[in-house]
This record gives sequence, C-alpha cells and structure tokens, in this order.
Amino acid sequence: MTAQLHYGTPAKIFHWLIVALLAVQYPIGWLMPDLHRGMTPGAAMTFHISIGMTILVLTALRLVWRLTHPVAPESSLPAWQRLSSEAVHWLLYVLVLTTTVSGWLFASFRGWSVSFFYLVPLPMLASDNEAAGRTIDGLHQAMEWALLVTIVIHVASALAHIFVYRDRVMQRMLPG
Ligand code: HEM
Ligand code: HEM
Repeated sequence: MTAQLHYGTPAKIFHWLIVALLAVQYPIGWLMPDLHRGMTPGAAMTFHISIGMTILVLTALRLVWRLTHPVAPESSLPAWQRLSSEAVHWLLYVLVLTTTVSGWLFASFRGWSVSFFYLVPLPMLASDNEAAGRTIDGLHQAMEWALLVTIVIHVASALAHIFVYRDRVMQRMLPG
C-alpha cells in the first residue's frame, strides 16, 4: 500500500474528536467521587465510563483507518525526528487502548452494571472479583499517567514545530 503524503479529513476528525473527549475525560476521572464496593455508580462515573468507551471505539476505528490509509512522515524532517514522532504516535495508540481496556476491566471486576449515557446497558468483560479489581485499578492509574506524559511530549513537540522549527508539521493536522 503506498503511503499518502498528507492526513485526510477522516484522520483529522478522529484526531481532534479524541483530543476533545480526552480533555473532558481526565477532569471527570480526577473529580468524580471514589466509589466503594457495593455502591451504585453515579452520574459522574456513568459519564466517565460512557466517554471512555466512546474513546475506545473511536480509537479502534481510527487505528483500522490508519492501517488501511498509511501516511508518510513529513519528508523535510531529519531521520531522528521522523523515527521519534512515529514511535510517539504508535505509543499514543497503544496507551489510549490500554487505558480504556484497563478501565473497562476495573468496572467489570467491581460487578457494576453501567449504562451507556443512560441509554443502553454496557457489556462487561468479566464478573465481580475483588482481588483482580485491585490489580487492575493500579494498571488503569499507571496507564492514564503514562498516557498523560506521552501526550505532554507530543504536544510539546507540536509547539516546538510551530515556534522553534517554524515548519509545516502542525499544518498537517489542521483543516484544509
Ligand atoms: C483514555 C480514556 C480514559 C482516561 C484518560 C481515564 C482516566 C481516569 C482518571 C484520571 C481516573 C482517576 C483515577 C485517579 O484517581 O488517579 C480514572 C478512574 C476510573 N476510571 Fe478511567 N479513564 C479512561 C477510560 C475509562 C474507561 C473506558 C473506563 C470503564 C469502562 C474507566 C473506568 C474508570 C473507573 C471505574 C475509575 C475509578 C477507579 C477508582 O475508583 O480507583 N475509565 N480514570
Ligand atoms: C493540542 C493538542 C495536540 C496537538 C497540537 C497535536 C498535533 C498533532 C500533529 C501536528 C500531528 C501530525 C504529526 C505529523 O505526523 O506530522 C499529530 C498526530 C497525532 N496525534 Fe496529536 N496533537 C494533540 C493532541 C493529541 C492527543 C491528546 C493525542 C492522544 C491520543 C494525539 C494523538 C496523535 C496521534 C496518534 C497522531 C498520529 C496520527 C497518525 O499518524 O495516525 N494527539 N498530532
């Protein structure tokens, strides 16, 4: 499959939609009240889980789109920047997927039944299991922090391209 030189509209829409959802997801995650075993998830947790599942589905679709529509790195970049940006981009895909799946497993091990935006029941991956839940809770937290650190590196690189290198890398993800 020949790689295109530019991101198409679907890739840009996926990118900015997931950015917007993550910008809402982190504050909800940090601000929502802690839930103990046996408690029923309230509105904040229902929205956190529903938005998280939306991010999971959009990222899976985006990954399929990306694999079937390869895009070449910006040709003007030195080899180290081409390699490091590709590595960070693939790491972002992996971390978004592991963060969402670990959250889904954690909710499943709590034995909760949660609805998708109060509309339809969400399928759970496993049944109530306190010990497994504790391990997975640690994994969800580790993944969400690893993702945040990688996002900071990614955004800092985008800013470096705008203000230091003053090249057209940022343009690649903007409309048009
Ligand atoms: C990329 C998407 C996601 C991000 C960035 C994210 C982020 C977070 C954050 C920041 C917290 C607070 C944890 C803390 O106190 O440090 C949290 C907790 C939690 N998340 Fe997520 N989350 C995501 C997806 C999901 C999904 C898909 C689910 C379930 C289907 C989920 C279920 C949970 C649960 C149950 C908790 C509470 C954990 C606890 O009580 O310790 N998350 N998440
Ligand atoms: C304000 C925040 C952000 C800016 C300014 C930004 C900017 C960019 C730019 C300019 C590119 C294209 C780089 C190139 O290949 O030339 C890109 C690609 C990418 N961004 Fe972001 N980004 C931001 C936030 C995020 C976040 C939060 C994620 C987390 C999922 C993310 C995930 C990705 C991925 C996975 C790619 C590679 C796309 C692909 O090749 O399939 N970005 N971003």
